[in-house]
Amino acid sequence: MKGLLMAGGTGSRLAPMTKVVSKHLLPVYDKPMIYYPLTTLMLCGVREILIICNSRDTADYQALLGDGSLWGCAFSYAVQDGAGGIAEAYRIGEAFVRDETSALILGDNIFYGDRLGSVFADAVSLNRGATIFAHHVNRPEDYGVVEFDSDKNILSIEEKPTNPRSNWAVTGLYVYDAEVVDIVRGLQRSDRGELEVTDINRAYLERGRLNLKRIGRGYAWLDAGTPDGLLEASEFVRTVERRQGYRIACPEEVAYQMGYIDADALGRLAREHGSSAYGNYLLNVIAEV
Ligand code: DAU
Repeated sequence: MKGLLMAGGTGSRLAPMTKVVSKHLLPVYDKPMIYYPLTTLMLCGVREILIICNSRDTADYQALLGDGSLWGCAFSYAVQDGAGGIAEAYRIGEAFVRDETSALILGDNIFYGDRLGSVFADAVSLNRGATIFAHHVNRPEDYGVVEFDSDKNILSIEEKPTNPRSNWAVTGLYVYDAEVVDIVRGLQRSDRGELEVTDINRAYLERGRLNLKRIGRGYAWLDAGTPDGLLEASEFVRTVERRQGYRIACPEEVAYQMGYIDADALGRLAREHGSSAYGNYLLNVIAEV
C-alpha cells in the first residue's frame, strides 16, 4: 500500500501568506498543516509515502519530515512545478506506485473523528477499483460533488458544479487500485489546464468500479485552503485540544499508537523537543498507556 500526499499547487487563495512559504507549512493552530493529512495516511496503515511539492519547497519538507524513519515510515519526495492538477500525482508518482493500491490525500484536508483511522483503513484494505469518501457540506459548489440514490449507487460526480445535485462533497482522500496509472495516462487536461481528480473518479464510475463511503455528521472534515478555512481549522483544533488534553495529528503519537515505533523511540523524540509543551505531551503519551 502506497500513499501520495499532494503538497504542491500555487496556494493562490492564501496569498500573500504563500508568497515565500508553501501553504502546507502554515500552522493549523499548533502544527504545520501537512501533519494533518500525513497522520491520516499513517492512521490508514500507510507508511510508504511520496510527498509531492514544488521544487522551491522540497528542502523545507525534507528538513521538517526527513525520510520518515524516525516515525517508522518511509517518505520520499517528488516535484510538481505549477498546478498541473491533483491527478498529475499519478504521472509524477507512476514508478513509485507501480502495481500497488494507493491512497492519495490532499495536503490541505483535515479529517477528525473517533476511529476514523480504522474506517479509512478498512476501506483501504477492502478496496476494489476506487473508493471516495463523501461528507455533507453547506456549500457543495466549492467541491467535487457526488450524487447517489437510496441504495448508495453513484449517479453522477461533478467538479465544482454551479447547480450541485447533492450536498455531498467528495473529500480529498482517494483510494485507487493499480489501474489508476493507466487511467491518468489517458486523461486530457481540463479547461483550466489541470489533470482533474474528478476525471479519474468519473473513469472508475463509468467502469462500474467506483465505491462511495459516507463520512457522517459525527466526523469533521475541514479544508484549510482559504483564509477562513485556515482560521476555522485552527479554531477547531484549538477547541478540541484544549478541552480534551489530547493533540490532534501528532505524528510521533500516531506512530507510537500504530506500533510503528516503540516507547524508547517515542521518548527520544520527546526529549528532542526539550521541556516544551509538545515534548511534555509526548512524554505523557508514554506514561498514560
Ligand atoms: O478538498 C477537496 C476538494 O479538493 C475536492 O472536493 C475537489 O474535487 C478537488 O478538485 C479539490 O478541489 P480544490 O479546489 O480544493 O483543490 P485545490 O486546487 O485547492 O488543491 C487541493 C490540494 O492539492 C492543495 O493542498 C494543493 C494540492 N495541489 C493542487 C493542485 C491543483 C497540488 O499539490 N497540485 C496541484 O496541481
